[in-house]
Amino acid sequence: MAIVPSRSGKTPQGPSRPSGAGPSSGAGANHPVPQSPQRQVEATVEEKGHADEALRPHRLGDYIGQTDLKQVLHIALEAARCRQEPLDHLLLYGPPGLGKTTMAMVLAAELTTRCRITSAPALERPRDIIGLLMSLEQGDVLFIDEIHRLPSMAEELLYPAMEDFRLDLAIGKGTTARSRTIDLPRFTLVGATTKAGSISSPLRDRFGMVHRLDFYNPRELQAIVERSAKLLQMGVQPSGAQAIASRCRGTPRIANRLLRRVRDYALVKVFPSIDEQVVAQALAMHRIDPLGLDPSDHRLLRTMAQQFEGGPVGLTTLAAVLGEDPDTIETVLEPYLLQIGFLQRTPRGRRLAPPAYDHLGLIDLRLSPAMDQRLDGQLPIGF
Ligand SMILES: Nc1ncnc2c1ncn2[C@@H]1O[C@H](COP(=O)(O)OP(=O)(O)OP(=O)(O)O)[C@@H](O)[C@H]1O
Ligand SMILES: [Mg+2]
Repeated sequence: MAIVPSRSGKTPQGPSRPSGAGPSSGAGANHPVPQSPQRQVEATVEEKGHADEALRPHRLGDYIGQTDLKQVLHIALEAARCRQEPLDHLLLYGPPGLGKTTMAMVLAAELTTRCRITSAPALERPRDIIGLLMSLEQGDVLFIDEIHRLPSMAEELLYPAMEDFRLDLAIGKGTTARSRTIDLPRFTLVGATTKAGSISSPLRDRFGMVHRLDFYNPRELQAIVERSAKLLQMGVQPSGAQAIASRCRGTPRIANRLLRRVRDYALVKVFPSIDEQVVAQALAMHRIDPLGLDPSDHRLLRTMAQQFEGGPVGLTTLAAVLGEDPDTIETVLEPYLLQIGFLQRTPRGRRLAPPAYDHLGLIDLRLSPAMDQRLDGQLPIGF
C-alpha cells in the first residue's frame, strides 16, 4: 500500500512521491535558456524524476485558478480553524492533471497536518484499509485517489469511519462471531476521481463537500507556465507562455510537460529565450497542433469522420477500431474534445461536430447533398 506521510508546506517523503527541490529552489531571476545555472537546476529537479513534485504549489495562495473551489475551501478552512475541528470530507472530481492531488496536499499544508496518500486499488484487502485508518492521527488528511475503484468491502468500512470516526469490525465467523468497535481520531478524507459517475451514491453522500475541477482558462494557464518557468529558471517571453497555454488542453500537468519539451528544444538549438516561434517549432516536432491536439486526438477525429461519417458511434465500437482502451478515450481524450466543441455526446453515441471538420480540413459528408438524400431515405446507406 502506497502511503505517503507529509508535513505541512513540505514536499512529501516516501518511495512513490519522493521529495524534490522545493519551489523555492528555482525561484530567481529569469536567466536565458542555455546558461549553466539553469542546467544545474534541471539536473536537480528533473534527473531525479521529481519534476512534477517540484512544480506543485504548496499553499492555497500559490494554487492558480479554480476560483470557486478555492473560495469554498477558504471559508471551510477558516471555519475549521475557528472551531478547532478537522475539515469536512471533500470529494474532488474532474479530468486528469487538473490539480486534485495537489489540492489535497495544499489542504494538509494549510491545516498544518499530515497528508497520507493512497490509491483505491492499493486497498484491495480489508486489512489494507483497516491498517490505514488505524494509523491515522488527529486532524490528518487522508487522500484516496481513484476512489471510484474502492472495493465494496473497503467502502463499507469507510462509511462509519467517515460519519462517526469509528471502525466496525467483525471478528470470527458463525456462532463465535463478535463485533468490535474502535474509535478513530477525527480526520479529513479527500477523495479524488476522474469518473464521478462510477462512485456509489452512499459513498458520495458522505462527503460534506463535492467539487468538480474545471479546465483552466488561457490566462490561468499562462500564469501556471510563467510560475513553472520561474521555478525552472527559464527565460520565457509572455508570447511563449501564451503559446504553451493555448496548446496544453486546459491542463496544468500538460502545460508543465510542454514547457519541459520546449526547454529541451531551446537548450539544444541555443535560443536565448523562449517566444511564440520557439514554442511553435518545438511542439510541431512533437506533432502537437496549435490547439494542443496530438496524433491520438487526430486519429480519433479522423476515424470518426472517415469510417463513421461523423457518427454517432458508440464508445466500445470506437475503442475497438482505434485499438484503444474505452476508459482512456473517455477520461483522457474525450473531455477536452467535448470542451472545445469538437465532439458531442448523444444518446446514440459520439458525434463529430462541425468545428472538428474545419480544424482537420475535412468535409462533413452529412452536410453534402448526397448525404441529405441518403438521410431522406432516397439512397441506401453505404452509398
Ligand atoms: N492550480 C494549479 N496551479 C499550478 N500548478 C498546478 C495546479 N494544479 C495542478 N498543477 C500542476 O499540475 C500537476 C498535476 O496536478 P495533480 O497531480 O494534482 O493532478 P490530478 O488532478 O491529481 O491528476 P490525476 O487525476 O491524473 O491524478 C502538478 O504537479 C502541478 O505541478
Ligand atoms: Mg492525482
